[in-house]
Amino acid sequence: MIGTKQDALIEITQLVKQYVMGRETVTVLKGVSLSVYPGDFVAIVGPSGSGKSTMMNVIGCLDTPTDGSYKLDGTEVRGLSDNKLADIRNKKIGFIFQGFHLLPKLTALENCELPLIYRGLPAKQRREMAMTALEQVGLGERVHHRPSELSGGQQQRVAIARALATNPPILLADEPTGALDMKTGQEVLSLIEELNRKGHTIVLITHDMDVAKRAGRTVVMRDGELTETVGRRETHEAQPRLPDGVQERLVEQA
Ligand SMILES: Nc1ncnc2c1ncn2[C@@H]1O[C@H](COP(=O)(O)OP(=O)(O)O)[C@@H](O)[C@H]1O
Ligand SMILES: [Mg+2]
Repeated sequence: MIGTKQDALIEITQLVKQYVMGRETVTVLKGVSLSVYPGDFVAIVGPSGSGKSTMMNVIGCLDTPTDGSYKLDGTEVRGLSDNKLADIRNKKIGFIFQGFHLLPKLTALENCELPLIYRGLPAKQRREMAMTALEQVGLGERVHHRPSELSGGQQQRVAIARALATNPPILLADEPTGALDMKTGQEVLSLIEELNRKGHTIVLITHDMDVAKRAGRTVVMRDGELTETVGRRETHEAQPRLPDGVQERLVEQA
């Protein structure tokens, strides 16, 4: 192998998720393994009922594995208390949902401040960070609008800004274009791609192969198992080194 392998940000090994329903145990995830490296853009694609949202809940620390291991940025998540889960979630993950999940009575700015309140940051700093996030998604002019005063695409961009406000390493998106028309959905995907280019690690969950194609790598979920990987794994393999001095000269010329 060339160079050194970076540590995985998400490292899932033989993960099992079961639900107990009365006297029956339903196994929804049946020994799933997945590694996501810093800077990756991974799509998890699969039909309805295959276990994608369950996977998202586990990756997002909204739920814990029944068996197997999930290491998030080096920390084993299985067995953590609810408080610890909430804490790690707030620090490591920004969520983007199909239905936006904005609070209707709050302005765009106030919605983006919410995850920062949890951090206990002073009001002025919260406002600045929320403002920066809204500018990043191109909504700097709409910060005092309420969700009902914004289009669906703009609402999703507010939700993306809220996910960005805490500057988490991972953005986790579950069907982020599912409630949008084609053109607006494409715009939201372009924004997600741009955030990936800026260094955010993206995990995108979708049933739509065309949406999944926008990712660098696609894994397919079928009946609780990850069956295939399509596409390139680009970011975690170190680039071949240039001869000594060449890199420095390129930088000087730039
Ligand atoms: N809390 C739960 N209790 C019992 N079964 C569940 C629960 N959540 C999901 N399931 C079952 O797990 C399977 C996968 O669901 P889900 O992860 O929502 O799939 P997807 O997001 O791919 O549509 C489904 O058969 C669903 O009924
Ligand atoms: Mg789902």
